[in-house]
Amino acid sequence: MAQRETWTTRAGFILAAVGSAVGLGNIWQFPFKTATNGGAAFVFVYLLAAVLIGLPTILGEFAIGRRAKLNAVEAFEQLNHPAWTVVGGLGLFTGLWILSYYSVVGGWVIRYTIGSLTGGYFADTATYFGAVSTGVEAIAFHALFMALTAGIVAFGVEDGIEKATKLMVPSVVLMLLGLGVYAFTLDGSGPAYGYYLSPDMGYLANNLGSVVPFAVSQAFFSLSLGMGAMITYASYIDKDESLPADGGLVVGLNTAIGVLAGLVVIPLLFVQFGQVPEGAAGGGPGALFVSVAQAFANLGMAGRVVGALFFFVVLIAALSSAISLLEVVTSYCVDKYGWNRKATAFGFGGALFLLGTLAAWDTAWLGWFDTLAYSVLLPASVLLGVIFVGWVYGPEAIDEVQQGSNADAMYARLWVWWLRTVVFVGVFVTLYLGVTSIYASPGLPFL
Ligand code: PHE
Repeated sequence: MAQRETWTTRAGFILAAVGSAVGLGNIWQFPFKTATNGGAAFVFVYLLAAVLIGLPTILGEFAIGRRAKLNAVEAFEQLNHPAWTVVGGLGLFTGLWILSYYSVVGGWVIRYTIGSLTGGYFADTATYFGAVSTGVEAIAFHALFMALTAGIVAFGVEDGIEKATKLMVPSVVLMLLGLGVYAFTLDGSGPAYGYYLSPDMGYLANNLGSVVPFAVSQAFFSLSLGMGAMITYASYIDKDESLPADGGLVVGLNTAIGVLAGLVVIPLLFVQFGQVPEGAAGGGPGALFVSVAQAFANLGMAGRVVGALFFFVVLIAALSSAISLLEVVTSYCVDKYGWNRKATAFGFGGALFLLGTLAAWDTAWLGWFDTLAYSVLLPASVLLGVIFVGWVYGPEAIDEVQQGSNADAMYARLWVWWLRTVVFVGVFVTLYLGVTSIYASPGLPFL
């Protein structure tokens, strides 16, 4: 059997993991979910969720992946818990499900990169978004995004993924910082900061049942948890690296980049609408493509360059996330069945393209795919993983996180205890609320 690849450097892993984590979840989704879920109250719960639930969970996935040195599904057999392979299987399914519509939004981003250069959306950003976000054009750009994703995965870990993600993190941060400063200087952005940064505890108290599950699931999505991605990436890490340090870095950077994206999008929404607008295009999925796009349009000629750069950076961020989703299934089929890497990547890419055409055809489908992922698939998959690490794999997990970190055994035990209590309850409640809300209103586009 061929020698399994490893990351060439520690930075290579961190950047790839951050590259997986930082994506449309941070730049597209986080700002609009914040805008529609009470602003700062949502941000507040999200931050708690990232640290109290996300960090311990990511550490669990790292500990599974590195010890097994195998893809996310077979890892469980390798660790001698074959029945728990279902955790890997559910994660794999969840990731594929998400990639099918993620790629549609990725397609919009390609479209907007080009549209910035030509000034295509400058006349009327809302109408433009309506026209390109659905139908044949959306399908065509969805196909292009999926083909790019499969193309990178086909090249493998070192040549494909590691190289592709190296430049991304610094450029995302620079672009967002620049835009954040620009938004700050604009008239009308003032009230946005209150909305975004000072939590309305009354709102939170009244909407706890919806804000909490949204924020927890958002943390999972954004940290690429429950989809086998972090297990897979961790399977390429060396034994002498500190998993807790890596986990802390990934969570910290990912959260900071999400918060920074909000500092761009929310002020721009206020500048344009004077508030957080209602409706899918204004404050919903279109927030980035209508309001941020409007800011570029206002800049005139300079906006073409800045806009194209911005959407290009978002595109790289989206691609480096999408490749980690496709890598999960690809590494599984390559490890287990000896399939050809290129054929596997393009085969699954093609199948997911077909599934995603529904979401590309009509944003109602996209919303439904997203809701199902958020409310059921993600929390269910994470919950199973937490039960596995908390109750089944605990002692080995404790040993694994200590390797390379010199972490005190007491902290490692505390971590497992935390998974069994706070994390378990938090994820369980999230799943429960998600399932009951879907049950109450399934919201299927054809019903
Ligand atoms: N975390 C990525 C984002 O925020 C999405 C993603 C999820 C990527 C799961 C890989 C695995 O956009």
